[in-house]
Amino acid sequence: MSKEQRQISKSDKDIESSGTKERFTRSGFILAAIGSSVGLGNMWKFPYITGLYGGAAFFLLFTICLLLIGLPVLIAEMTIGRGGRGSPATSLIRLSGQRIWGSFGVLSIAGAFFIMSFYAVVAGWTLHYAVISFGGAIREGVDVEATFNHFIGGFLPVLWQFVVMLVTGWIVIRGASGIEKFNKVLIPALVLILLFLMVRVLMLPGAGAGVEFFLRPDFSKLSNESVLVALGHAFFSLSLGMGTMMTYGAYVDREQSLGAATLAVGGGDLLYALLAGLIIFPTTFAYGIEPGQGPGLAFVALPAAFSAMPLGWLFGGLFFILLAIAALTSCVSLLEVPIAFAIDRWGWGRNKATVITSALCFLVGVPSAISVGGAVNGLHWGPRSFFDWTDFIASNIILPLGGLVVTIFVGYVWKNVAQQAGLTAGWFMLWLFILRFVAPILILLVFLHSSGLLSFG
Ligand code: PFF
Repeated sequence: MSKEQRQISKSDKDIESSGTKERFTRSGFILAAIGSSVGLGNMWKFPYITGLYGGAAFFLLFTICLLLIGLPVLIAEMTIGRGGRGSPATSLIRLSGQRIWGSFGVLSIAGAFFIMSFYAVVAGWTLHYAVISFGGAIREGVDVEATFNHFIGGFLPVLWQFVVMLVTGWIVIRGASGIEKFNKVLIPALVLILLFLMVRVLMLPGAGAGVEFFLRPDFSKLSNESVLVALGHAFFSLSLGMGTMMTYGAYVDREQSLGAATLAVGGGDLLYALLAGLIIFPTTFAYGIEPGQGPGLAFVALPAAFSAMPLGWLFGGLFFILLAIAALTSCVSLLEVPIAFAIDRWGWGRNKATVITSALCFLVGVPSAISVGGAVNGLHWGPRSFFDWTDFIASNIILPLGGLVVTIFVGYVWKNVAQQAGLTAGWFMLWLFILRFVAPILILLVFLHSSGLLSFG
């Protein structure tokens, strides 16, 4: 019997003794998982799609998608991680006894690696903007659009991307306890800055129009498409389908309630998205600026508003620090996924795994960094730049497929799941019902929609 086969046939108890020994504390795990879910997605996509697809009506829909499908899949990922005590690929093999599930695990791991490659680029932009904002470069009279185009057109983004990889690697090299400490400091800082900024911008004259755009319920805007957009975003926002929550789950104590942790993560993510919207729209509307989404929102529209605001350098600087913290805590969770894989599949030490994975991820991210307005800006394949292709393949294809794998694995394949989930009988039946019959169909529709195979006119 090979070493691998022996591992496969081990009982849960043996997995516990042979799997990873790294552990989070209870609060450390919850904060790390909140850190992973709260990210750029909450800041530059969620508020915009909410404003576009029906305000408070969409927020309600998003909340329902998150509670009904997102949280059950989140518990499923955490349960797989805790049950298998390894990287997603190893855990899936250990729990099913079938090697094929390892390949599905590798798909998620590749997804995390590729998301990280371009996510680090944008995280770098936020650091650069925090620096230039505090340095006074975003002020009255400055052409913020030209400033942004000039920045992304050069090589500075590569330098900042390198800084992000360095910081992320420096955290992750310390393992679960390093990740936990980092989040324990940064998440409270994030909350303080968020509240401070929200109070400030809600006092701006004209802020009410922004709140109205963001939250006025318009049920007539809800459609089949809004359901799929809401669900797709719930997945991205909760960091599902990419192995992050399985990887973190492997470091969770047996005694910790996954149901309670999941509620804390879902609630934290929702609240953050709500407060982010209450900063972004009042700011842009108060200065009569078209909000938009993505880079245009964070790096052009908002700086334009900050440049016109009294003490705008301070509020702008704080805003970009907020964005940087949200991005970095997500980066840490993303980089941990391939590192955990290299450690348990190839037997690498954490130092070696961190250095090699970070370096590779940096290299793969360089074309992304210079393909948005930069040296290889002209290099488009079909409709997308390198940056956009990486985002599209990871977020719109791998992510829903990764989510589908999790629902099918827990719903149909994993025999021992009842003992591992730690849910009461009633909740367990409901959970399993959703994972078996509801989530797979909806996730499949999200996949068809986000990959462009299904369109609504
Ligand atoms: N949840 C993060 C955000 O909303 O920005 C992004 C993310 C992190 C997606 C980790 C997927 C992931 F595995």
